[in-house]
Amino acid sequence: MSALTTPLLPEDFLTLFDPLWSTTSLRGRVVARRRETDRAVSVTIEPGRAWAGHRAGQYVGIGIDVDGVRYRRSYSLSSPETAEHLTVTVQEVPGGVVSTELVRNVPIGTVVELEQAAGGFTLPDPLPGRLLFVTAGSGITPVMSMLRTLAAAAAPMPDIVLVHSARTPQDTIFAAELAGLAARHPSLRVVQRHSGVTGRLDPASLDAAVPDRAARTVYACGPDGLLDALTDAWDDVVVERFTPPARESEGTGGTVELGDSTVEVQPGQSLLEAGESAGKIMPSGCRMGICFGCVLPLREGRVRDLRTGQAHGEPGDLVQTCINSACGPASIDLP
Ligand SMILES: Cc1cc2nc3c(=O)[nH]c(=O)nc-3n(C[C@H](O)[C@H](O)[C@H](O)COP(=O)(O)OP(=O)(O)OC[C@H]3O[C@@H](n4cnc5c(N)ncnc54)[C@H](O)[C@@H]3O)c2cc1C
Ligand code: FES
Repeated sequence: MSALTTPLLPEDFLTLFDPLWSTTSLRGRVVARRRETDRAVSVTIEPGRAWAGHRAGQYVGIGIDVDGVRYRRSYSLSSPETAEHLTVTVQEVPGGVVSTELVRNVPIGTVVELEQAAGGFTLPDPLPGRLLFVTAGSGITPVMSMLRTLAAAAAPMPDIVLVHSARTPQDTIFAAELAGLAARHPSLRVVQRHSGVTGRLDPASLDAAVPDRAARTVYACGPDGLLDALTDAWDDVVVERFTPPARESEGTGGTVELGDSTVEVQPGQSLLEAGESAGKIMPSGCRMGICFGCVLPLREGRVRDLRTGQAHGEPGDLVQTCINSACGPASIDLP
């Protein structure tokens, strides 16, 4: 009834014709796709007016409908800070819902939901004197944004070594562009490794390839095994992880009041997944317990941390919905 009686504002009319006009909800339109390898595609998205830009190394939350269900995932931006449109570079995960959709299917013109860029995997200002980037597979994406941003800047490229590993030369995302950047910028050394030939990267082989490694500020992005080995062996490595932590506990599940709805949370399912499956608009970010972009206030009951299996929570506590499941009945406020 209120839709009949509430006058539409000019912005409402514009948003009806073009969802990118909204200043309150952020959307984007797929405007280009570029194949990088057999398994990876760069997807360029024209963001709506509310987009606030990004810092090189940050990720963006994307919501996309697959077979009528809205899924949300995070993707590091591979485009430079100065780009008018944003680009994400997605490598297909076998059996993965969203990566498969983005790599194989998403048509030009598709409108997706966006969140503002987030994440602390960014370069400090001023830049360190010497940098080492260690990346593997799709972990090159945030570093590509950094290199493209530095290459476009007026200042000379700092002293950087990038060691990047992929399974094979054909599977190496941005291989030609990385070689071209190194050729144009003498202070950038790019070492491309192929795990199918030389084995996986590890701290010892990196120390051999980069003798002054200890004097460099290290940024690393890739599979958990590589990142764990680096953080165990070296101090002060800045890492970005793409995979959520292993779930130690299947939890108990339960009936949860989420705002004005009641949602059944399955054992082992996060509150975030359950809310989204029920069509609720849930705040989120990394979806892996790091950014606190998903916290909501617990009104009643307790929740179970899926990483540790521990039940916890008092009324009024802020709960990370991406890594907590239900633990019997509970009530959570939605903004
Ligand atoms: C901060 C951040 C930045 C990211 N940036 C990128 C990026 O630039 N490019 C990119 O391709 N991906 C990136 N990811 C990963 C991305 O968010 C998705 O997790 C990935 O695309 C898989 O989603 P899916 O829907 O295809 O798989 P799902 O349907 O969610 O999962 C299918 C199966 O794959 C496993 N799985 C989920 N994610 C991964 C993964 N990353 N690697 C291996 N197995 C996985 C699941 O455990 C499950 O068994 C990033 C993730 C984070 C948190
Ligand atoms: S979405 Fe980042 S901590 Fe939950």
